[in-house]
Amino acid sequence: MAASHKAMKTVGIAGAGLMGRGIAQIVAQAGFDVRLLDAKPFAAADAKRLIAEQLATLVAKGRLSTAAAESAVAHIALPESIAGFGDADLVIEAIVERLEAKQTLIASLDGVVGKECILATNTSSLSVTAIAAASAHPARVAGLHFFSPVPLMKLVEVIDGLLTSPVVIERLVEFASALGHTPVKAKDTPGFIVNHAGRGYGTEALRIIGEGVADAATIDLILKLEAGFRMGPFELLDLTGLDVSHPVMESIYHQFYEEPRFRPSPLTAQRLAAGLLGRKSGRGFYDYRGADALARPSIVPPTTITQSNPAPTRRGWVSGTSPGTRQRVVSLLQSLGAEIDAGATPESDSLCLVLPSGRDATTAALDERLDPRRTVALDTLFDMSRHRTLMTTSVTEPYWRDAAKSMFAADGVPVHVIHDSPGFVVQRTVAHVVNIACDIAQQRIATPEDIDLAVRIGLAYPAGPLTWGDAIGPPRLLRILKDLARSYGDPRYRPSLWLSRRARLGVSLLTPEA
Ligand SMILES: NC(=O)c1ccc[n+]([C@@H]2O[C@H](COP(=O)([O-])OP(=O)(O)OC[C@H]3O[C@@H](n4cnc5c(N)ncnc54)[C@H](O)[C@@H]3O)[C@@H](O)[C@H]2O)c1
Repeated sequence: MAASHKAMKTVGIAGAGLMGRGIAQIVAQAGFDVRLLDAKPFAAADAKRLIAEQLATLVAKGRLSTAAAESAVAHIALPESIAGFGDADLVIEAIVERLEAKQTLIASLDGVVGKECILATNTSSLSVTAIAAASAHPARVAGLHFFSPVPLMKLVEVIDGLLTSPVVIERLVEFASALGHTPVKAKDTPGFIVNHAGRGYGTEALRIIGEGVADAATIDLILKLEAGFRMGPFELLDLTGLDVSHPVMESIYHQFYEEPRFRPSPLTAQRLAAGLLGRKSGRGFYDYRGADALARPSIVPPTTITQSNPAPTRRGWVSGTSPGTRQRVVSLLQSLGAEIDAGATPESDSLCLVLPSGRDATTAALDERLDPRRTVALDTLFDMSRHRTLMTTSVTEPYWRDAAKSMFAADGVPVHVIHDSPGFVVQRTVAHVVNIACDIAQQRIATPEDIDLAVRIGLAYPAGPLTWGDAIGPPRLLRILKDLARSYGDPRYRPSLWLSRRARLGVSLLTPEA
């Protein structure tokens, strides 16, 4: 496409809603001439007014000069019809998320814009290739996926439709950089990178709650304190609203032909039917009504732990199946003032502690020929300095459960005891998230670097999932996933070939194939 070598100057934006308005703002701020159009009367003018107000706020905060704000607003023109896009070098559509509407618009743009003009769609869930098929020149159509709020979310996915010209992709990458955003390139696949990689977190948390392992507040707290997620999965579902997130979960699942890794939970359909949408309806997984509407789940301080016995044992025997991990736990217990039973097998009055990766506590106790009634499991995936998760077998007696809790809470670090679950909360969630990212790499949807970048910026996870997987250790993650797959007999947890090959080769998950 020779035309796309031309310097970009004029950008048409169709749709002046939440996204179109945000895109118009940053494009105008970057000095491009913007033509903003909406099908609804006065919508584009309202959007321009809101942009001016937004920029005035930035000026008041000292983040923008008055001249820059005035210049950005002056760069936004409001044409009467799409004929006003005639001189555009690029048109970005951010209209309603309906395939027919987008195809009709793209087909009409063909008759208006010059043959060198690039057409970009901001669709989140539709096929870029299907939208492009409405154009007589699908090579000039690509996805340019911004995130909300556009001025603050500095990531743009540049999506390659099946027939998109590589030159168009490179021009859009340059354009996104000129806006001060970070472009990542992705192939046209359901959810692209961010909405695809983000499928693991919420769906796994819903499975954990569905199995009765722990409640929403406990799961959120564990994932934030132990794994470092900024928001818990249930806080996030409440923020987005189930009216938005439930259909997205279903759509991605069906678009991948019922891929078990993305299987939604019956819980959200039911909660949606009950109107428990989240913050917007006042009730979701949390209750936002009343005076302490924004109260966060509280941590039970160690002093309030109810104990079934006034003098619980302080003696623990620690499983030796993983010597390095055993030593970490022994050192921790010693620093907490506990007595270590160092025998090859536990004394009859010692607490039995197992440290499984992927197995549940019951399986670990039986595999290691321990008494499951006085066995408790500890999650050692991360460093245990901000939170500790203990897990009972199906028959752990309250005396031993409470003894374990009081031992591990002795220094004031919060401790939660959950019901038996292969991979606790953190292991199974993090392994699932990393496994999905590995499969995105395996499908060549994006480069390993772009996957990590997109997830870090777009989802604000504590690390890019492939880098995170390297830090945990690919062989350990492989073991967790294999144990999860064996425990559940569910292909949801089958390890991605990208992960299992790199784990066996002993190389980084970021290792591309030549
Ligand atoms: N909301 C988000 O967080 C988000 C994030 C990324 C991408 N997207 C995508 O961006 C697009 C717009 O989403 P939104 O949240 O801004 O929606 P919105 O409802 O706020 O705005 C859509 C606007 O498009 C206008 N419109 C509808 N048909 C039109 C047409 N034929 N020509 C011109 N204008 C038309 C509507 O009047 C409306 O003002 C969708 O494709 C959506 O999937 C949304």
